[in-house]
Amino acid sequence: TEPLRIGLAGLGTVGAAFIKLLEQKNALLTRQCGRPIEVLSACARDRNRDRGVDLSNVEWYDDAVKLAEAPNLDVFVELIGGDGEPALSAVKAAIQSGKHVVTANKALIAKHGVELAILAEEQGVLLNFEAAVAGGIPVIKTMREALAGNTVSRLYGILNGTCNYILTRMEEEEIGFAEVLADAQRLGYAEADPTFDIEGNDTAHKLAIMTSIAFGTQIAGDDIYLEGISNITLADIRAARDLGYRIKLLGVAQKTERGIEQRVHPTMVPIESQIAQVDDVINAVVLETDLLGALLMSGPGAGGEATASAVMGDVADIAKSRPGRQHVPALVTPAKELAPYQRAR
Ligand code: HSE
Repeated sequence: TEPLRIGLAGLGTVGAAFIKLLEQKNALLTRQCGRPIEVLSACARDRNRDRGVDLSNVEWYDDAVKLAEAPNLDVFVELIGGDGEPALSAVKAAIQSGKHVVTANKALIAKHGVELAILAEEQGVLLNFEAAVAGGIPVIKTMREALAGNTVSRLYGILNGTCNYILTRMEEEEIGFAEVLADAQRLGYAEADPTFDIEGNDTAHKLAIMTSIAFGTQIAGDDIYLEGISNITLADIRAARDLGYRIKLLGVAQKTERGIEQRVHPTMVPIESQIAQVDDVINAVVLETDLLGALLMSGPGAGGEATASAVMGDVADIAKSRPGRQHVPALVTPAKELAPYQRAR
């Protein structure tokens, strides 16, 4: 059988973990997908850094757009990050040259997701971004596939592993913010610029993507009330605990009579609630729907292995979607038909 040929752009924490996963689980993945998956070519800022993976058989490109345009690939996996260049042009070039795209880039999807999804629909290729939201938790697939027919009234969650890790360790060990943040960076949880984590932007990106899918609207990334955790002190955490609460950074989206309200801020949650028990780098998503009541999913929200797991799930969907063996995840709402976002006033 023909292998699925991948071009991989970006070899940071997630990219290296993805290659490692392919190396280690090759036989299992081939069996599950019915064909082998191969990284044929790659590009990254630094070719020579030791990532603990064998890149000797990989064709090297210096330019992500050139890699995206390469004629011998089926899928372009974008793990560069950032809502601008070169990620944006590379993803567009891949779609325009008829390749499926898998990305973990929440900033890119939050800003350009609708435009890219319309382009992908026109070209008849898939744009999969499970890894962009809540790391290893399959929240996009769940909303798009398993929850068809449900009407979502509210969704909320802990969507940033770095912040939850910081808040947990501050509470448990009574140590200061800066020290824990350095650990989160060392463990590969934080964004390249950790301001995006601690000021809530990363949570807002993920919330905006989920909101669009849940409510069938265009993505409104810049219409989210935003407050991060950089001002939370040990004294705040202790005061909350004395009152029976814990502090969590939540992203919340709900349908109101006035439109869809989206916000990100530190929230006091009752100690006995499920969401209060979610610790460390674990994320949690609650979806409230008419048919299910509340559905809670939790799991690792950041880190190389967990995020690579979500990337692999998206790649495997494409590997399985050969003609005659359709296994293509359906969009709940095709991008072209998304309603305008209706902000709450
Ligand atoms: N920096 C992000 C986090 C990575 O801490 O959740 C996963 O998107």
